[in-house]
Amino acid sequence: MAGRIPSQFIDDLLARTDIVELIGGRMQLRKAGKDFQARCPFHDEKTPSFTVSQEKQFYHCFGCGAHGSAIGFLMEYDRLSFREAIDELAHKAGIEVPSEAAAAPAGPDYAPLYAILDQAAQIFRLQLREHPDASRAIEYLKGRGLSGEIAGRYGLGYAPPGWDLLLTRLGESPAQRERLLQAGLITEQDGKRYDRFRDRVIFPIRDRRGRVIGFGGRVLGDGKPKYLNSPETPVFHKGRELYGLYEVQQARRKLERLLVVEGYMDVIALAQFGIDYAVATLGTATTIDHLQVLLRSAPELVFCFDGDRAGRDAAWKALETALHHDLVTGSQSLCFLFLPDGEDPDTLIRAEGLAAFEQRLVGAQPLDEYLFEHLSAQLDTVSRDGRARLVGLAKPLIKKVTAGIYKAKLEGTLADLEAQARMAPSTGARRSRPRRGVTPVQRPTRPSLVAQAIALLLDHPELAPAAAEQADDWRRLENPGVAVLAQLLDAITAYPGINKATLTERWRDHPHFDYLQRLSVEPFLRDVPEDGLAAELIGALQGLSKDVRDAERLQPLNRRSTAEWSEEIREQMDRDHAQARTRLR
Ligand code: UTP
Ligand code: MN
Repeated sequence: MAGRIPSQFIDDLLARTDIVELIGGRMQLRKAGKDFQARCPFHDEKTPSFTVSQEKQFYHCFGCGAHGSAIGFLMEYDRLSFREAIDELAHKAGIEVPSEAAAAPAGPDYAPLYAILDQAAQIFRLQLREHPDASRAIEYLKGRGLSGEIAGRYGLGYAPPGWDLLLTRLGESPAQRERLLQAGLITEQDGKRYDRFRDRVIFPIRDRRGRVIGFGGRVLGDGKPKYLNSPETPVFHKGRELYGLYEVQQARRKLERLLVVEGYMDVIALAQFGIDYAVATLGTATTIDHLQVLLRSAPELVFCFDGDRAGRDAAWKALETALHHDLVTGSQSLCFLFLPDGEDPDTLIRAEGLAAFEQRLVGAQPLDEYLFEHLSAQLDTVSRDGRARLVGLAKPLIKKVTAGIYKAKLEGTLADLEAQARMAPSTGARRSRPRRGVTPVQRPTRPSLVAQAIALLLDHPELAPAAAEQADDWRRLENPGVAVLAQLLDAITAYPGINKATLTERWRDHPHFDYLQRLSVEPFLRDVPEDGLAAELIGALQGLSKDVRDAERLQPLNRRSTAEWSEEIREQMDRDHAQARTRLR
């Protein structure tokens, strides 16, 4: 997508943009040293950890990890696409996006699809007010305790009985009928086309920018299927969308917490009762995409599941997905709440009211507790064997947590369990609960040498000349990271004076763009004093070069006959000993 806009243009655009001015126009920035600071707009915090660097033209939040260039900021804060962010900055700078890029828009143009979906939503809404049969739908919604205000906020509508409402209202031309089909609003069977949604309450599904992308329709009684949903279309991907997220973000700009539930009616009933921060996965498993969006949207997530088998399985799946994809590494809190069998948030909040439901939220299990409890469920944790098995199950999962607020807690509990598993079996009948120990906070481990070198160069392109002077044996290492490092160093050398934002933007199309951006704000960078940066980088490169030379020295040795080999290795050992003795003196 970005490839369509020449990177020279993006360089120019960033050169004419001042990220401090851009962000400062949207929130209050305070000067702090040579940078600017504010309370982070992407998570809730009391003390500012959101930093904007004029020199690097880059922002970074030490609390939630958000980071990027001016382009990235507009994409996150104003929820623009890459292309829209470029247009916005070009407009501000008073320059034209090159016509080659303007004439060839990135990918197919979905504007007509969004338009027809929006028209359909309006038609459904109007039917709820005007159609002669709509009274049944209104009675149904009232019967479920909903006010007109809430129905309006969520844009609820009604698809009347009949086969051709949308087909006749919106399908006036073959092109329009094709769009209706592509948007999933009509279906085709035996060459006949007809409306998908008939005699159902309609829930429009909006994306994060408020565009209608699909619908859910509920029968008014006990018919089957209970819900009919839009199929996957070019603009609707069930596994990526969270129902209600747009409405939540409309209601409150700064989110403290998101409650993740399963169904349309859960979101709406919760909002009716005052919990206007629920979103739904629409009956699908929680995906990586869901988790990424959720983690970016609020500092506290509560996953709410049925207490039955299916609900418990779904919760564990969500946890595994988060751990396997290294998503639990920030400062966000993740909790799990299980509801009594047979209840969902809709039935519960109606039965017990807001205060009691909020009490449940307070009691939700933090991720670390839930993890150990789930794994212990099938084990006898009183016996030494059981505890050893618990350790065996927990360890590989916990290993995946490389940073974040849960790391120390999980490791602490695991260490306790390991110690207990080594002790004699306890004789008491008391079930041992893992102690919620206070373990010393561990210093984050440093990434590999290649990753350190890349991180240093990305964060401080001005170090490139010092790096270029070093012996470049490291370039012979066959390792994908080294290839990136070499490319990076060459790019900076060819463009002296490039800043961090411009440099990272040049990698936007690279398959590892996200990873590189994240490296550029790696926590270890903060531990290196300003005047030690060059030495760090040189040290990393020298370390890599030494690895290459060591490997190459061993290679010929490996090809020798055993006799030759042992002779050589003996000589080498003698040399090493001699050296060691010299050093000891
Ligand atoms: P539930 O069966 O829990 O429905 O499915 P619900 O939300 O409680 O519905 P009400 O309260 O009876 O109206 C949870 C979600 O799974 C999807 C829907 O997104 C639903 O909200 N689902 C369920 C379907 O897509 N199709 C179905 O037939 C059933
Ligand atoms: Mn329900």
